[in-house]
Amino acid sequence: MVESIVVKNVSKSFKTKSGNVQALSDINLGIRDKEFVSILGTSGCGKSTLLRIIGGLETASEGEVLCHDSIVDGPGIDRGMVFQQYSLFPWMSVQKNIEFGLKQKKVERKKREMIAKEYIKLVGLKGFEDLFPKNLSGGMKQRVALARGLANNPEVLLLDEPFGALDMQTREVMQELLLGIWQSSPKTILMVTHDIEEAILLSNRVIIMSSHPGEIKEILDINLGNKRTFETRLTEEFLEYKRIASDVIRVETSKIL
Ligand SMILES: Nc1ncnc2c1ncn2[C@@H]1O[C@H](COP(=O)(O)OP(=O)(O)OP(=O)(O)O)[C@@H](O)[C@H]1O
Ligand SMILES: [Mg+2]
Repeated sequence: MVESIVVKNVSKSFKTKSGNVQALSDINLGIRDKEFVSILGTSGCGKSTLLRIIGGLETASEGEVLCHDSIVDGPGIDRGMVFQQYSLFPWMSVQKNIEFGLKQKKVERKKREMIAKEYIKLVGLKGFEDLFPKNLSGGMKQRVALARGLANNPEVLLLDEPFGALDMQTREVMQELLLGIWQSSPKTILMVTHDIEEAILLSNRVIIMSSHPGEIKEILDINLGNKRTFETRLTEEFLEYKRIASDVIRVETSKIL
């Protein structure tokens, strides 16, 4: 099986005024090509740190990350990232924000305008193309960030709570959208979320982390096939996965509270 991402013995500690914070401890993980993997875990357990290290935005204190057999030593266009804090360029319109990565990849103007328009429509922002981030709500900004990540079509997509700022209805529409995109053109996706159902519905595997230090506690294989729909959430198997994941998370949370 070809592996897109390999995380080898990765640890990370941050120096702070009140001493060292051990954010990650000896993380080992392989993500297969075109696999959808989600990470669940309590706040502060190191999910964003792990994603940022894979994205090349943060360096590991120990260990290494390989992306398609090359050592990650910085960001690259093979790995696209949608941040928890949907960092958009404030001086660019919605349209230009979404086109940005395509422009970097030297996609010609007409084509990138067309691709951006397609994703603007998909995330329900038609009519808002010319607005600037300061004129958008948090949820709208998050949808722009998601559209930008998807439009770039990187080999590996790293999503840090991509739906965190959305209301439940919009969130469900976006989950369906992502499910549809992944089913029609599978790509390697690593997504952090706090939503257990979202993780199970979308993923081939769900990783549950424990905190301080952040470690992988459990990895669940989600054998729900590749023809999932919203109805899948009502099946016995789905509810069983949800029960197992909730139990692990409850135990982990009770350890730190
Ligand atoms: N730049 C930094 N400097 C110091 N400590 C940091 C830094 N970034 C993260 N940390 C610490 O590392 C730990 C993990 O943080 P991280 O942001 O990865 O957590 P998380 O799992 O993404 O949490 P959340 O669910 O709240 O987003 C926390 O204890 C945090 O305080
Ligand atoms: Mg985070």
